[in-house]
Amino acid sequence: MILSKFVDELPIPPILKPRWKDQFYTYYEVNMTEFSQSLHSQLNNSTVWGYENGYPGPTIEVESGEKVFIKWINNLPDKHLFPIDYTVHGAHWDVPDVRTVVHVHGACVEWESDGYPEAWFTKGFKQVGPYFRKQIYRYDNCNHACTLWYHDHTIGITRLNIYAGLAGFYLIRENRERSLNLPSGKYEIPLMIQDKTFNEDGSLYYPKQPEKPIPELETSIIPEFIGDTILVNGKVWPYLEVEPRKYRFRLLNASNTRFYRIKLDSGQFMYQIATDGGLLEYPIGIREIMLAPAERADVIIDFTNLEGKNIIMTNDAPAPFPGGDKPDPLTVGQVMQFRVTLPLSSVDTSTIPAYMVPVPKIKEQSVTRIRYLTLNDTMDQYGREWMLLDNKPWDAPISENPKLGTTEIWYLINVTDDSHPIHLHLIDFQILDRRNFDVDKFNKEKVIEYTGPAMPPEPQERGWKDTVRANPKQVTRIIMEFGPFTGLYIWHCHILEHEDYEMMRPYIVIR
Ligand code: C2O
Ligand code: CU
Repeated sequence: MILSKFVDELPIPPILKPRWKDQFYTYYEVNMTEFSQSLHSQLNNSTVWGYENGYPGPTIEVESGEKVFIKWINNLPDKHLFPIDYTVHGAHWDVPDVRTVVHVHGACVEWESDGYPEAWFTKGFKQVGPYFRKQIYRYDNCNHACTLWYHDHTIGITRLNIYAGLAGFYLIRENRERSLNLPSGKYEIPLMIQDKTFNEDGSLYYPKQPEKPIPELETSIIPEFIGDTILVNGKVWPYLEVEPRKYRFRLLNASNTRFYRIKLDSGQFMYQIATDGGLLEYPIGIREIMLAPAERADVIIDFTNLEGKNIIMTNDAPAPFPGGDKPDPLTVGQVMQFRVTLPLSSVDTSTIPAYMVPVPKIKEQSVTRIRYLTLNDTMDQYGREWMLLDNKPWDAPISENPKLGTTEIWYLINVTDDSHPIHLHLIDFQILDRRNFDVDKFNKEKVIEYTGPAMPPEPQERGWKDTVRANPKQVTRIIMEFGPFTGLYIWHCHILEHEDYEMMRPYIVIR
């Protein structure tokens, strides 16, 4: 089924209103519910899950340093929308099918409020996972201004819960950013990009079985999920009417597996101003931008003098990445359309600043610990692909235990054929470099023999990151300081089909 493109307007999620706000703290309540929503005007409404009756959920906007408390409430029915695979970690028959836990991706937050995958809870908190600690989460928002997002993180079913619609934006604001006079207000728009597949009746499709089914088992875990339809902010191939002026877009890839290489068919530049963790030192003019699952990029697009033009945002990243099929330029090769049809409502006084904020480099001399961590590909007892971090499953004893306030370098040694977006909770890191190495030799002798020079991160990655593409047959080095909290966090691949099936590990920050 191929749906027409650019027939529905881009929805912009509403800003969530707090239940309480005073000079000391802010309190929100966020309900998760099932409802039906139109994802395309030629489709019947689809049953989805969302926060506050919306998919995507409402945008949460806070100030840097604001003390925020959020009660995330599970009001979902007991039956899941998608086939559960009871053979994957944490999703066995002995736990309820519908479980949730919310993680604010990129947040600097105490561990009890981080949304640990085994801190799940059911409707009315009737049943909770072994690591559940509190009903009301506390966020200190110690980050600088940045684009974060919140999403479900329940062990073994994250891919299904996010696919059902459990995701939204969480923006941190700050005067330092306001003073830069970037496009703001109605000229600042978040774009959550996802891929999905629909059944004829308008319902969302998620496979029951991998391509090679396991006899006698309903096993929905698949090595990757690649949808045939692109949605932005919950609409299939939407359009947005814009004025001939500058806009700021906060791009987020919230897809299960799909990577995007975003371009504008007008060939014009986009000016990237921020990475996952906030503003760059200075804007970078780029013609294309790569976004792996969970990566964000804030870009300014200037529509000045383009009155009457239609501009399509395109995608040419193979799926899965990098070895998969090129996207069909007529379908998943397109993302959305901008129509420069609105009259200019006032003179555009916003700017693309020459300099934004300092991004001090973390010094390699300050490192007290180096960790060598492999990304592996093996086979489970049923012959299914099984991706691991450091050759260890989720349940193996904790091995990454950085000390509070210390700096480490992690070597992500990718011996698989896929690019894996590796995400660490709690902290932002910097990418040092990527380097090709001899995989066969590494597999046999466990030594890294480089076969090429160290390549610096791409200009678009030279800021604070919380998710990095670890490319196949490369060693990717990242550097970070652990803090300001101690406690139990996780690191994982953000391909949801990988993280649900063991490509996820706990780590602990110790005193
Ligand atoms: Cu986007 Cu562990 O999360
Ligand atoms: Cu992965």
